[in-house]
Amino acid sequence: MAAHWNAHTRGVLLASPSNPTGTSIAFDELKRIHHIVSAKGGITMVDEIYLGLSYDASFGQTALAIDDNIISINSFSKYFNMTGWRLGWLVMPVDMTEHMGKLIEFNTSCASVFVQRAGVAAMQRAGDIVPQVVMQMQACRDRLFVELGSIPGLDLAVPDGGMYAFFRIPGLTDDVKTAKRLVAEAGLGLAPGSAFSPEARGWLRWCFAFSDGAALGAVGEAFGSAQVEDFAVGAHDDRDDVGVAGQPPQRGHGDLGAVMEFAHRRIAQAAGEGVEVDECQQLDPARSFGPVGGGGEFDEGTGGKLSAVGVVVG
Ligand SMILES: Cc1ncc(COP(=O)(O)O)c(C=O)c1O
Repeated sequence: MAAHWNAHTRGVLLASPSNPTGTSIAFDELKRIHHIVSAKGGITMVDEIYLGLSYDASFGQTALAIDDNIISINSFSKYFNMTGWRLGWLVMPVDMTEHMGKLIEFNTSCASVFVQRAGVAAMQRAGDIVPQVVMQMQACRDRLFVELGSIPGLDLAVPDGGMYAFFRIPGLTDDVKTAKRLVAEAGLGLAPGSAFSPEARGWLRWCFAFSDGAALGAVGEAFGSAQVEDFAVGAHDDRDDVGVAGQPPQRGHGDLGAVMEFAHRRIAQAAGEGVEVDECQQLDPARSFGPVGGGGEFDEGTGGKLSAVGVVVG
């Protein structure tokens, strides 16, 4: 970092835990980075919006514990299931607030009033809500990783924070096409690594923020039981019909359709509903089981049971 610092550099922006990998920067490392930045006269900004979703006791400490001269970025999105509400907060040195005020005033003016009120309600109930969200999220992570970890050759590391499993399937080259196939044929929304950076090409991100850990596990199990090499797309590169809006999911091009059928069967069995396989096949495979992408796109995926924060009126 010191070597890349130049006359135009004003600061460093870090995200810990990160999106899409879910890995955190060790506190000592963060300290070292901040000391380099300070010595250069720059500003350290740390995006800590997943910090409250830390599952490893050695992480989870805010960068503000190092120094007051740090900007910590935070959000209601992940702790209160308010993705897409675009409400967050900054902790920063007092002398920066006036300048930050100008920036906000001329960009967004302010968050809309009902969203601010929801934020107040969320904060008032944070002590009840956040521990539940963290527990649920960790259960989902653990459940999904049992399944993903049993897939031979899958390249993945257990994230110490956040809400994503980030992994690479052996032989996978076109992650965008694979992600489209998973949506079109299995109703499974994973984000392609290429959406984050060229280095992440060939990787997939699975958001495990889900209200039902058992159902998520069933989908993970189905994913693992499908032919992993089939996800690698190569054999189907001539297919240009994937992901076309309004078209029915394609069958017979591989085993991806089986992913959801298998998952529905498992979920139904677990629920003791005794749903037959044929009946499961009638289920709509286009129903998304996993949130796609970042921000507002995954409101539906994380919406519902995870938390109960809504709009407060009056
Ligand atoms: C690291 C990181 N920072 C910021 C955001 C955006 O947060 P918000 O939903 O509050 O706009 C996201 C959203 O996914 C994120 O992953």
